[in-house]
Amino acid sequence: MKAAVMRANNAPLEIEDVTIDDPGPGEVLLKTAASGICHSDLHVIEGGLPMPPPCVLGHEPAGIVEAVGEGVTDFQPGDHVIGCLTSFCGVCRFCTGGRPYLCPTQFAGRNPGTRARLSDAKGNPIFQFANLSSFAEKMLCPQRSLVKIRDDMPLDRASLIGCGVTTGLGAALNTVHIPAGSSVVIIGCGGVGLAALQGARIVGAGKIIAVDAQAWKFDIAKQLGATDCVDATDGDLVAAVQGLTGGGADFVFECIGLVPTVQQAIGMTGRGGTTVLVGVVPVTQLVPISAADLVLQEKKITGSYMGSNRFRFDMPKYVDFYLDGRLHLDEMISARLPLEDINAAFDHMRKGEAARQVIVFD
Ligand SMILES: NC(=O)c1ccc[n+]([C@@H]2O[C@H](COP(=O)([O-])OP(=O)(O)OC[C@H]3O[C@@H](n4cnc5c(N)ncnc54)[C@H](O)[C@@H]3O)[C@@H](O)[C@H]2O)c1
Ligand SMILES: [Zn+2]
Ligand SMILES: [Zn+2]
Repeated sequence: MKAAVMRANNAPLEIEDVTIDDPGPGEVLLKTAASGICHSDLHVIEGGLPMPPPCVLGHEPAGIVEAVGEGVTDFQPGDHVIGCLTSFCGVCRFCTGGRPYLCPTQFAGRNPGTRARLSDAKGNPIFQFANLSSFAEKMLCPQRSLVKIRDDMPLDRASLIGCGVTTGLGAALNTVHIPAGSSVVIIGCGGVGLAALQGARIVGAGKIIAVDAQAWKFDIAKQLGATDCVDATDGDLVAAVQGLTGGGADFVFECIGLVPTVQQAIGMTGRGGTTVLVGVVPVTQLVPISAADLVLQEKKITGSYMGSNRFRFDMPKYVDFYLDGRLHLDEMISARLPLEDINAAFDHMRKGEAARQVIVFD
């Protein structure tokens, strides 16, 4: 099968013929239908999230089951599914305690010493990203990385739910409780931010302020529910948001992952408000913050990982939200591309020229 292989950091991905193994116990073989491109894939390419090359990236997929391995009871050939990187073991204290997205086993692949799921033309193993590796015509995944969805859900739009939508929507619906009427700021209007923005709209937030450095994204943000937009290239953003909210917002979602925008997010958070960090700051970078500012104004900061999801419960619900018109996914897709165009897609992402781009397979 064809797959885009990261052979080295900061180099173009290479389209190669990759061998995918047969499904082992508990595994499911999928025909990939579509894979959204998330900025976390770019973080891996740029080294901000370390993963060993050679590696097939891609972790925002939807597909159709082709075959199942021994003991697979949750799926059968023909099922339409979404894949999620927070695979769950089902028995640890996080899984049984209601927070399966924190399951420490989620990145464990096949047992050491067994054959790799993916290998190159010379038979050398290729690292599978997050049990998914969706920049490939087929995927071999543990059944606990997958959820079955309705057949009437278009698979290109379903793929967005695999990461960006679950992350952004879940940050607003699961990680924090946003009382109706609250003021909300979304910093970064990519796939993740536009989903968080829709979460704020769905829970009935009052003012919803979108911040981005690319003013063309404000048309999309307004269609999806933004009441106000602030151009990050134009003046003092923190003062602009404080002006719009009477001193700072109740909730600020940082959906980029840069040190200055994390600091801005805390600055835009009002007294007693909550800063939600969704963007991934490169693991080697630290963010200086004023502790006194937090204490004296009782601000809270929380991280939000993968929308605090229980994806087998959340994703079918998000599919319903799309099909009943509450969640808008068509507006979020700025391009559908073949796998061959993946490097151009990452260039567009680097320059902020895209909302969500989706690789579609025949
Ligand atoms: N917490 C999680 O579990 C989780 C899951 C998925 C993705 N992420 C992270 O979320 C972040 C966003 O992902 P995405 O796929 O939406 O990215 P994206 O590249 O599609 O969107 C980023 C947006 O930020 C804007 N931007 C960039 N620099 C800016 C600046 N200085 N000021 C204002 N706007 C700026 C861009 O124009 C773009 O609209 C990434 O860091 C990604 O790794 C986190
Ligand atoms: Zn992602
Ligand atoms: Zn677990």
